[in-house]
Amino acid sequence: MSEIHQVPFFRADVGAEEIELVGQVLRSGWLTTGPMVAQLEADFCKATGAPYAVAVTSCTSGLHATLIASGVGPGDEVLTTPYTFCGSIQAIEEAGARPVFVDIGNDLNLDADLLSRHMSLRVKAILPIHIAGLPCDMVAIDAFAKQHGLAVIEDAAHAFGATLDSSLSTAAVHSFYANKNLTTGEGGMVTTSDPAFAGRLRCLVNHGVRRLQSGPLGAWQYDVKERGLKYNMSDILAAVGVAQLRNWRQHQKSRQRIADTYARAFVDSPYLCLPPVHPDGNHGWHLYVVQLEVERLKASRDQIATELMSAGVGCSVHFRPIPLHSYFERYGPLSQWPNVERLYPRVLSLPIFPAMTDDEQQFVIGRVHRVLEANAVC
Ligand SMILES: Cc1ncc(COP(=O)(O)O)c(C=O)c1O
Repeated sequence: MSEIHQVPFFRADVGAEEIELVGQVLRSGWLTTGPMVAQLEADFCKATGAPYAVAVTSCTSGLHATLIASGVGPGDEVLTTPYTFCGSIQAIEEAGARPVFVDIGNDLNLDADLLSRHMSLRVKAILPIHIAGLPCDMVAIDAFAKQHGLAVIEDAAHAFGATLDSSLSTAAVHSFYANKNLTTGEGGMVTTSDPAFAGRLRCLVNHGVRRLQSGPLGAWQYDVKERGLKYNMSDILAAVGVAQLRNWRQHQKSRQRIADTYARAFVDSPYLCLPPVHPDGNHGWHLYVVQLEVERLKASRDQIATELMSAGVGCSVHFRPIPLHSYFERYGPLSQWPNVERLYPRVLSLPIFPAMTDDEQQFVIGRVHRVLEANAVC
């Protein structure tokens, strides 16, 4: 066995099945939305238990289309958190609405107890984000939404593999970006329990077009019903997703095993806190985010991350909070969200991907211990 010198933050797990199915699509001559997209939507429903699924080009585009289909538009506000990827916020702004930021809890997810502080007549929707794959407190969020007549649009970019009870939500929007639990390179999926909502969304993401005729005349006998979007997925990308879905349970088991191994290795470390787990063990483990006990360390999180990378461990930070980006400075200082301000300098994402070997994980664990101990405050 060769000695390990480096473990990447992420390594994609695609192979012969993906290549074979993509080849099948390319040979078929039908490249855009067609039978392979229909297959992916059906398989995705089976895997997640969602009644309806609409494939889109990304989670960002899916969130944008879902907000519009939920009636969110100019002058409206959407309750969400500043602790997310920019795509969640760009979707809200693209719909013409304004994000209103709610602070997070120690689990990095939206703190549902704080929703009422930010409520106003302008609020039309809540957009919770299941950070790292840990489901938000959807019971509390759905109850609040019901009380105030709000749409609930789940940013499920990290949550494939977690069991989401989305029966009360308007929709859940997944990402198939290259490093996600299920990937098509770029892509996404909107799931919903409402057949009318699914139909509206399907029309919206395909130029707002409805066919007036079935059969050959349908090629031009169609009607543009509304200001549409062009967010439909191609069969080429769907083929990658169909192949990925054949192995998803195995991949999730690997993620769970890696998370369990990290937990055993780090549980007694005085220098970090383990990621929170769901009471019934439900977690997608897209990311493994530890919180550094920075008071016990001489070095900052960024210095620790730099040392880990020099030692061969790929790591990352999720996320640089939205108001710290120059484009979003207008939302004001981070101190408005004390938990985001407190937790951001502590979070560090360690490698977790199904293809990671036991030896690679032991390498990561050893280097993490070594770097943290070398930086301990005496
Ligand atoms: C929380 C969150 N929401 C949304 C997105 C956007 O996903 P996509 O790249 O599919 O648009 C990401 C991407 O990483 C994300 O992490």
